[in-house]
Amino acid sequence: MTDSFHRPVMAPETIGCLLQVRPSIHLDCTLGDGGHALEILRRSPETFVIGFDVDREALSVAEERLSREFKGRFLALKADYRRLPEVLAEIGIPMVDTVLYDLGVSSRQLDTPERGFSYWGDGPLDMRMDLGRVLTARDIVMTYSEEELARILAEYGEEKFARRIAREIVKARRNREIGTAGALVDIIKRAIPARARTGGGHPARRTFQALRIEVNDEIRLLQRAILDGFYHLKPGGMIAVLSYHSLEDRVVKNTFRSLAGSGEANLVTRKPKTPGAEEVEENPRARSAKLRVAKREMANGTLI
Ligand SMILES: C[S@@+](CC[C@H](N)C(=O)[O-])C[C@H]1O[C@@H](n2cnc3c(N)ncnc32)[C@H](O)[C@@H]1O
Repeated sequence: MTDSFHRPVMAPETIGCLLQVRPSIHLDCTLGDGGHALEILRRSPETFVIGFDVDREALSVAEERLSREFKGRFLALKADYRRLPEVLAEIGIPMVDTVLYDLGVSSRQLDTPERGFSYWGDGPLDMRMDLGRVLTARDIVMTYSEEELARILAEYGEEKFARRIAREIVKARRNREIGTAGALVDIIKRAIPARARTGGGHPARRTFQALRIEVNDEIRLLQRAILDGFYHLKPGGMIAVLSYHSLEDRVVKNTFRSLAGSGEANLVTRKPKTPGAEEVEENPRARSAKLRVAKREMANGTLI
């Protein structure tokens, strides 16, 4: 486990938008290390925070961190935001004032080699955020067909050498287990033409991203999850989503647009907000972030 905390991305912009409504209950659907939650608790003394995460390690870090200053003002739950309606019903909180989704992977997960998210280490090919789930990245590379592998790499990784990498994986696994990040990186390097291996970041970045999205099923139920968050907002409440992948951002954009089209939401961000140059320089992992915010209309059609 690493000692440093995940740096919350676009925290002033995100929290600034959400705090326009002075929330009494804020739901952080992706608590992580609690960076965004901490900012809300600091800046809004009247707010109680509920935090969900599927990763027990993240929960224990956030719990320890937040309770130093804010004991009694937050509740951290091992919960999947795709079960948001059930979880809120279980804790007897039907509606919240603000909700945040900070999608994707945390720096803590990436920087812990044993979790297998990173192409730098040589950890086991795992990549599960929720260790209670069964499917690992190793299972995918060892059992998916060449066509399925190529589809995932192209769609979730936007990897232009998806077919070549899928072919090389299937060839390699005939002779041996592909069980570690290092073994997969070697295969990817063999599959990508030498001239394409320079520039454009690490050659395994897109494949690792694609496998992570598949392992954690990050895209399929996203629209439903965002709608669930939205419909658990009190009228006048605010929803913010930070995404890091064009597929995710498309889902967020289309979901918000259709809610605005039906008169249920007001778009606070017509175009997504992106991080400033200074933030990207300090925290390169913020570079692909897009922030979209929407406000739920009052029941009678007026906005507060
Ligand atoms: C980018 S991090 C959040 C970082 C956090 N905002 C902070 O400032 O520390 C995303 C977190 O969402 C969690 N996560 C991913 N999918 C989830 C899901 N379906 N339900 C709940 N949490 C999820 C991950 O385990 C990870 O800890």
